[in-house]
Amino acid sequence: MLSADRLRQKYLDFFVARGHKIIPSAPLVPENDPTTLFTSSGMQPMVPYLLGEPHPLGTRFVNSQKCFRSQDIEEVGDNRHDTFFEMLGNWSLGDYFKKEQLAWFHELMTKELGLPSEKLYVSVFAGDSQVSRDEETADIWKSLGIPKDHIFYYDETKNWWSRAGIKADMPVGEPGGPDSEVFYDFGTPHDPKYGPECHPNCDCGRFLEIGNSVFMTYKKTESGFVPLEKNNIDFGGGLERLTASVNNLSDIFKTDLYTRIIDVLGGNISPTTRIIADHLKASVFLISDGVTPSNKAQGYFLRRLLRRSMVKLQQLSSNIDYQVIVKAVFSTYSGTSYFDQANTDKIIEIIVNEHDKFRKTLKDSFKKIGKVSPFDLFQTYGLPPDVIEEFYQEKGLQFDRQEFNKQFQKHQELSRTASAGMFRGGLADKSEAVVKYHTATHLLHQALRDVLGNHVQQKGSNINSERLRFDFSHPAKLTPEQLQKVETVINDKITANLPVTRREMPKSQALAEGALAFFPEKYPRLTSVYRIGDYSKEVCVGPHVSSTGMIGRIKIVKEESAGSGIRRLYAQITD
Ligand code: ALA
Repeated sequence: MLSADRLRQKYLDFFVARGHKIIPSAPLVPENDPTTLFTSSGMQPMVPYLLGEPHPLGTRFVNSQKCFRSQDIEEVGDNRHDTFFEMLGNWSLGDYFKKEQLAWFHELMTKELGLPSEKLYVSVFAGDSQVSRDEETADIWKSLGIPKDHIFYYDETKNWWSRAGIKADMPVGEPGGPDSEVFYDFGTPHDPKYGPECHPNCDCGRFLEIGNSVFMTYKKTESGFVPLEKNNIDFGGGLERLTASVNNLSDIFKTDLYTRIIDVLGGNISPTTRIIADHLKASVFLISDGVTPSNKAQGYFLRRLLRRSMVKLQQLSSNIDYQVIVKAVFSTYSGTSYFDQANTDKIIEIIVNEHDKFRKTLKDSFKKIGKVSPFDLFQTYGLPPDVIEEFYQEKGLQFDRQEFNKQFQKHQELSRTASAGMFRGGLADKSEAVVKYHTATHLLHQALRDVLGNHVQQKGSNINSERLRFDFSHPAKLTPEQLQKVETVINDKITANLPVTRREMPKSQALAEGALAFFPEKYPRLTSVYRIGDYSKEVCVGPHVSSTGMIGRIKIVKEESAGSGIRRLYAQITD
C-alpha cells in the first residue's frame, strides 16, 4: 500500500528533481480576490502568471493545493466525488510544453508510482471552429506507448479547461486551453445504465480520471480568443484519486485519506458514510481557514455541508461524537502542515453549535412542510433534498421532484458560477455587497495611511458579503481615538460621494504615478488603476462601485493582531 503522504512526497520530489520550485498551498478562501469564494484548483493563485506576468521565482512550479468545489456537494456519495480534495499541480510558465509534460507525467505514473501502462487511457481535444484538433498531443501519447485505441477525442465539454468551463461561459480576460486527461481503468464491467458503450468519460465507475494537463494558451477577449504570449502548462491531479489508482482501489473512500474517518463511523463504506466523511472533512478544513457557518457566501456552503452531514449522521447512529470525527480528520493529515492542533477545540465548538442550531431548525421546518415549497426547505432551512423527499413521503404529501430539480439546477449553476469566481447571475445581491466592501477597503487603506503614517502597507484583504477584513503593517494596537479618526475619514469620503474611475496603464506607469500597489509581482504588465476622487489611487482589478455614496456608512467592528507587526481590522456597512 502506498500511503497518500508518500505519494504526495514522491510527486513533489519528482518535479523538484526536474527544476520545479515548491509553492505552499494557498488558503481555501482566497486572499485579495473578492470575486472568488473558494480555491477550487491549484492554478487559481497562478492566474496572473499564466496571463503573462513574470513570476519572481522562475518558470517551473509544483505543489499540493487544498481545494474545495461547492458545485460537487450533491455528487458526493459515489466512489469518486468529494468536495474537499488535494490537487497535485505542476506549472510551466512559458517554459516546457506538451512533450515534456506528457512524458514526465507518464514516467511518474508508470515508473515512480508503478501504474501499469496498459491500464491508462487518455483523452484529447477534438477541435472545433475556433481551436484545432489536438493531433500533436495524440502523437506524443502514441510515442509514449499509449495505443491508438486508448486515445479518445472529446469536444470542449470534456477537453477544454478554464475556471468557468466551456468557452462561451468564460468571461473576458480569462485564460483557458485544450487539455488532455489520463484515466485509470479498473477493469470493472460496464453498467449499461450509463450508455450503450463504455469510454473514459463514462460514469459507470470503470474509469477514473487521475490527471489533467491543460495547455493554457488562450485568453478570451471582447473579440474572441487570442493566443497568450507564452505556452503554459497547468497540470492538476487529485491526490485522492491517484492514491486509489496506485493501490488499485476502485473507491477513493478506501484510501488512507478517508479510512480513519470511515472507521470512526463504523467502518462501512456506503453513500451515507461517504457523504459524512467528505462533508465533515471539508468542514474542518473550511473552519480551519476561517469560515464560520452562516447564510451567505462561504459560510452558506459550510452550513450546507454541516447540516447535510448531521442529517446523515442521525440516520447512521444516535451516538454522535464530533470530537472523535474531527480528531480523525486531524490525524489523517498529521503528516502535513495543514492544521494547527491548537484550533481543535474551536473547530469542535463551531460544529457542535451548528448542530444545536440545526436541531431547532429541523423541528421548525417539519412544521413548514406543505406550507412552503420544498425548495424553500432546502434553501432557507438547509434540509438536504433527499431528506425533504423522505419527509414528504412520511406525511403522505406530493413531492414535485421535477419542479424541485428545475430550481435546484438553477441553484447549482449559481454555485458553479460562485466557485468559478465570476460575478454573474443571481449572485448580484451578494456581489453588490462585496463590491461595496471592496471600494470601502481602498478608502480604509488610504485613511490608515493618513491617520497612522505611510508605513502602513496592505498585508492581506478578505471580503465577504457581511464584512471586510484588512491586514496591514503597523507596530502597535490602534487606540480608540485612532480607530474613530479612521472611521470618520472613511465616512466623510463616502458622504462626499467621490467618483470611482478606472484606467488601464502599463504597470511601470502606475507605479511611477504613485498608485498604491503592495503586491506588484502579482499584477499583470498592463494593469488597471482605480482612483477614488483625488483621495485614493490603487492598482487593482476591481470591481468597484461607481461612486462612494453607494457604500453606506462604515463601522470598524474589531481590531486585533494578525502576527508580529501586523494589525487586522474588521469593518461592516451599517445601513
Ligand atoms: N486546472 C486544471 C484542473 O483543475 C488542471 O483540472
